[in-house]
Parts: sequence; structure tokens; C-alpha cells
Amino acid sequence: MIGRLNHVAIAVSDTEAATAIYRDTLGAHVSQTAPQPNHGVTTVFIELPNTKIELLEPLGENSPISKFLEKNPSGGIHHVCYEVDDIIAARDELKAKGARVLGDGEPRIGAHGKPVLFLHPKDFLGTLTELEQA
Ligand code: CO
Repeated sequence: MIGRLNHVAIAVSDTEAATAIYRDTLGAHVSQTAPQPNHGVTTVFIELPNTKIELLEPLGENSPISKFLEKNPSGGIHHVCYEVDDIIAARDELKAKGARVLGDGEPRIGAHGKPVLFLHPKDFLGTLTELEQA
């Protein structure tokens, strides 16, 4: 069902400092910082030859990553995102297998402008798992 690893998202408290680590220390190509008010995060994309790293910094009062950063003040891997061909078919198959879909279970338009869903971390080895219709 799942295809390519689309991205690994890392929560950070300071995108500028985090970007410097990827750009200057690791020598990666980094995108511009992009505030995404309707997702409650500021994002920076690190383009790697085979996938992306997405740096997420909380934006606004009810950011979905604030609690995670409270528990992991130095940052940490927040979720992984796999591509699927048909997000509704993938969702229905996963639900039939007993997996829990977060929120109301309907895909939302994610930070890349494509439909996404999140799966409960307790059903996937303690890892918040995003599906994106590629
Ligand atoms: Co993501």
C-alpha cells in the first residue's frame, strides 16, 4: 500500500538555528522559511536526493506541535510521511485492519497542497504516521 518516503518531519524550537545545522554543518539544500498559519507551523524543507526533511516550528497559540516540543525541548522526529496512490482507499483499508485515523478521518490539504491523513502513533510503533496522496 505505502510507497515512497515523502518526508521525515523534525520539530524544532528555532527554524533559523535548525536550518543552519542542515545548510552549514550538513551541507544540504534548504528552502525558504514558510509560515503556514492554517497548519500552526513554520516550515523549512530540506531537499535530499531521495526524500525531504521537514523542519517544523510552532506558529501561533494552538500549534499541533507545541506539546511535542514541551516534552522534547531540544527537538525530535515528529512524524514520517509515506506516499499512497489513493488516500481514501488506503484509509479504508487501514481502518478495516483496525488502525485509527486522527481527527474526523477525512483527508485535509497538507503543507504541500496535497490530501493527507495522520494515523495514531500507538498503532504504528509509537510513530505518528502521515499518508499523502502523491
Ligand atoms: Co508532514
